[in-house]
Amino acid sequence: MKLLVTGGAGFIGSAVIRLALKETNARSVNVDKLTYAQPDALAEIAGDPRYAFEKVDICDRAALERGVPAPTSPTASCTWRREPRRPLD
Ligand SMILES: NC(=O)c1ccc[n+]([C@@H]2O[C@H](COP(=O)([O-])OP(=O)(O)OC[C@H]3O[C@@H](n4cnc5c(N)ncnc54)[C@H](O)[C@@H]3O)[C@@H](O)[C@H]2O)c1
Repeated sequence: MKLLVTGGAGFIGSAVIRLALKETNARSVNVDKLTYAQPDALAEIAGDPRYAFEKVDICDRAALERGVPAPTSPTASCTWRREPRRPLD
């Protein structure tokens, strides 16, 4: 399973990502523009191979369409580029 978490550097999103990494085998992609982000919220998992971060504004359609890579899944990344509204596989 792969999770795409928007606002994942914030209070709720970072807690979701930490919990997912701790309690499941899921990979998580954090898409956050770091406006209100909490600087240390994800420090403990920053090096986790199942975690990826993309600094992107989700209101910036062009940036989203350039692609948000899913960790270790080139296929999911391509799907996201073609059809950004479809969930990751
Ligand atoms: N914290 C709560 O108790 C609570 C309760 C009910 C509802 N909510 C709602 O849940 C959401 C998240 O709350 P939170 O406390 O985690 O907020 P937060 O401010 O801690 O985190 C929000 C994150 O979203 C990011 N962000 C904002 N706009 C973005 C954009 N356009 N593109 C990418 N990233 C963007 C910010 O950089 C930040 O890291 C908010 O909509 C909030 O109103 C929060």
